[in-house]
Amino acid sequence: MMKTILITGGAGFIGSHVVRRFVRNYPQYKIVNLDKLTYAGNLANLKDIEKEPNYEFIRADIVAAELIKKIFQKYRFDGVIHLAAESHVDRSIANPTEFIYTNIVGTVNLLNAAREIWDNMDGKRFYHISTDEVYGSLGETGLFVETTPYDPRSPYSASKASSDHLVRAYFHTYKLPMVISNCSNNYGPFQFPEKLIPLVINNIRNNKLIPVYGKGENIRDWLYVEDHAEAIDRIFHAGINGETYNIGGINEWKNIDLLKLLCSIMDTKLRRTAGTAEHLITYVKDRAGHDLRYAIDSSKLQNELKWKPSTRFEEGLEKTVDWYLANEEWMKNITSGDYQKYYDNQYNKR
Ligand code: NAD
Ligand code: TYD
Repeated sequence: MMKTILITGGAGFIGSHVVRRFVRNYPQYKIVNLDKLTYAGNLANLKDIEKEPNYEFIRADIVAAELIKKIFQKYRFDGVIHLAAESHVDRSIANPTEFIYTNIVGTVNLLNAAREIWDNMDGKRFYHISTDEVYGSLGETGLFVETTPYDPRSPYSASKASSDHLVRAYFHTYKLPMVISNCSNNYGPFQFPEKLIPLVINNIRNNKLIPVYGKGENIRDWLYVEDHAEAIDRIFHAGINGETYNIGGINEWKNIDLLKLLCSIMDTKLRRTAGTAEHLITYVKDRAGHDLRYAIDSSKLQNELKWKPSTRFEEGLEKTVDWYLANEEWMKNITSGDYQKYYDNQYNKR
């Protein structure tokens, strides 16, 4: 039977990889991508699949409750994969309010709309995509597991934590069938160049400074975006209702070590003398409340759903650099509007 699946935030970074994967791999599904197209949403991310017969795009804001209800009534979705969010920590520090509307109110609007159309919950699923940042910050040892108590420390992670709690509350209170996954830092093609890796690739190419927050000693666990999309596919199809799954790269890097590796890849790709890019590294004022370390234990997902990351970091980084170097036009288009102003502002403040 044909199923209609709603993917929110499908014009963003991770969402576009998920939409592409589902459109290509599941011709028996109709994939509806609902996105507001904020600064981070870009339909150019989906050019290769936009004409597929099982794909449809709707421009809408998840904060607009009545509109969302109408869309649910019209399409009668069988499943929801919810990625739409304000996603950047620095922006949440500069202006938290938008994060509350989109990440919390927007999620509740989707939950309410799903609850309203799903009289019979059989075979239905609300899949909420979240972040490991809800667990707070680790010291030098230990890993986040699914039972680690929530301890969000930025407006971004607090808004995501709040939405996670609401999704679980709807499961317990209304029996709304749901799953949640909490993933570590993603990288790969189509990531907006405010996040560390694409920002630095772009800066090196343009001989701009590489801003390293604080001492560069913060640690992140990096996962190639297509591995995340594969995990989402696995969890959507085989996860157990009410459960949470951690997704991670088993790939911890200190920011400064990652940047040095990226510098050396960029020197090679741009045929510049070794060490050229490293000269651009500049230590700047630390992010307020900067979490020291994130690292994920994904053994539940590995053992129960047989997923593991398949892209080695060096290989994934090289693929990512190649993609950005081959897609200068994409970068120009996405950085020519408001974002450039925002970035210049942020940077001048440091
Ligand atoms: P992104 O910022 O690249 O994309 C977000 C998308 O959501 C954009 O297309 C944007 O237009 C859309 N959107 C924003 N507000 C909206 C609204 N009110 N209504 C409808 N659409 C709206 O984000 P991303 O990095 O692809 O992250 C996607 C999801 O994955 C988010 O929920 C994020 O919290 C989560 N996540 C991200 C990472 C990461 O490393 N990027 C890691 C773990 C989890
Ligand atoms: P980011 O990509 O913003 O992801 P998150 O904050 O969600 O982990 O940042 C990754 C790490 O890189 C984080 O420790 C902050 C640091 N960082 C810099 O040092 N310089 C930068 O210009 C940016 C954007 C991030």
